[in-house]
Amino acid sequence: MTDRKYIPNLYGRRIDKPLRERPARLMAELLPTLSAPDPEAGAVDPATLFPGAEEIWLEVGFGGGEHLAWQAQENPSVGLIGAEPFVNGVAKLLTKIDESGLQNIRIHFGDARPLLEALPDASLSKLFVLHPDPWPKKRHHKRRMISPWFLAEAARLLAPGGELRVASDIPDYIRWTLMHVRNEPAFEWTAQYAADWKVRPADWPETRYEAKAAREGRPPAYLIFRRR
Ligand SMILES: C[S@@+](CC[C@H](N)C(=O)[O-])C[C@H]1O[C@@H](n2cnc3c(N)ncnc32)[C@H](O)[C@@H]1O
Repeated sequence: MTDRKYIPNLYGRRIDKPLRERPARLMAELLPTLSAPDPEAGAVDPATLFPGAEEIWLEVGFGGGEHLAWQAQENPSVGLIGAEPFVNGVAKLLTKIDESGLQNIRIHFGDARPLLEALPDASLSKLFVLHPDPWPKKRHHKRRMISPWFLAEAARLLAPGGELRVASDIPDYIRWTLMHVRNEPAFEWTAQYAADWKVRPADWPETRYEAKAAREGRPPAYLIFRRR
């Protein structure tokens, strides 16, 4: 497509180390049974992925899937879609699903953004972006996931009262997110007190990336924005 308002994930499907036998088998055998339809092939109707689900939630860039699997376990009546282009992360989530028997997760193995574009209006109740890649150099800021394009899509996709949750341990990215959300009238920041964004909510489990950041002295911000 030539009219996209974002820079596609140029790295495609990424891998850091070759998969061991079991994760490789899960990628070959389990992933096809859990994959969301290819968004490049047309609109994606999440209701058909989770017949009977009360709500649909989506996580952009789930990494090793710690948060996604936890939410799926805690919320069996919800259908969760996870998007992640990193092979080793997808394989980790598949291992968790295989071990736990979780039934309410579907996976988009690739860039989340074409999937967002293919989903219908007001189809999601929660949208998670946890520790998005910070792209610290100024000339790379246009690659950041949080952007005017992303927030307009999030506003389109979330039903009224739905939540966009963003975590970051990078002060500049936290400021960036708050600044961009302020310019998107569809969202209001729910925090009233510092504790509302500095203290982990009970329904927000720690991810591996976050644990590492905390060990290195970078506490996260937990930002919750409500769709008006
Ligand atoms: C810093 S990691 C954080 C992972 C995870 N959310 C966590 O907190 O542990 C950022 C993740 O975003 C993923 N990512 C980057 N660009 C993406 C895109 N366009 N669509 C979906 N995921 C993306 C990366 O592959 C990586 O797993």
